[in-house]
Amino acid sequence: MTDDLLTRIKVMGAVPRHIAIIMDGNGRWARERALPRPLGHRAGMKSVREAVEGAIEAGVEVLTLFAFSEENWQRPPSEISALMDLLEEYIAQEIEELRGEGVSVRVLGDRGRLTASARAAVERVERDTTTGSQLSLNLCISYSSRAEITRAAKLLAEEVLAGALSLDGIDEDAISARLLTAPWGDPDLLIRTSGEHRVSNFLLWQLAYTELYVTQTLWPDFTRATLYEAILDYQRRERRFGKVPV
Ligand code: IPE
Ligand code: IPE
Ligand code: MG
Repeated sequence: MTDDLLTRIKVMGAVPRHIAIIMDGNGRWARERALPRPLGHRAGMKSVREAVEGAIEAGVEVLTLFAFSEENWQRPPSEISALMDLLEEYIAQEIEELRGEGVSVRVLGDRGRLTASARAAVERVERDTTTGSQLSLNLCISYSSRAEITRAAKLLAEEVLAGALSLDGIDEDAISARLLTAPWGDPDLLIRTSGEHRVSNFLLWQLAYTELYVTQTLWPDFTRATLYEAILDYQRRERRFGKVPV
């Protein structure tokens, strides 16, 4: 069944180059099982593996995952510390496999707020996977899109004040170039799990013409088949970018 989906994707062609995912629903998955929320987060780790392997199989070049938002710092300290521990565990467990698969990992967000050991793990996985050329995996952690855009505005203002940039030099490309996602461009497809129809401060600028796909599937139940269904749905769409159909 999964192979069949993959075959259909290949036949359709035009695989999304860049997929972003809001990995949501871990808490509800745990609650349905009367488990503590951190066990939902733990169960979600294997879904990250599914997404990575599925993306590689399908020929996706960039996978940008929303793992922890700036706003998520407002959660109970026990949940935050479980998530930080899981981040370190994920990196320790996956680093060799990711490297073997040719995955290059980057962490986007305010890493200054991470614990020292989580920050060290993040730096290690980035350093050890720099040569990966099969898939770029961006993990958005302590990430806020409004903070990212605010930072870009400040960078531009500094350059103008320093005389390195003229006011006319501030155009859309100049802003895109100062976002954390600059090297990877805009997503073609955004997937949000758990049925929520909102973007929750994720990639606000970059999503201007991204195709949106919401699935009821809770993140811990996400498999590569869920990814393939989303890609097939994307392949049936007509992207018009404001123009008339051709
Ligand atoms: C997503 O799952 C993971 C994070 C935001 C860290 P949630 O923890 O938001 O799960 P729900 O939305 O409460 O089900
Ligand atoms: C968005 O999910 C952030 C991540 C998935 C990391 P949330 O669960 O934090 O979003 P809201 O609160 O439902 O908007
Ligand atoms: Mg949620």
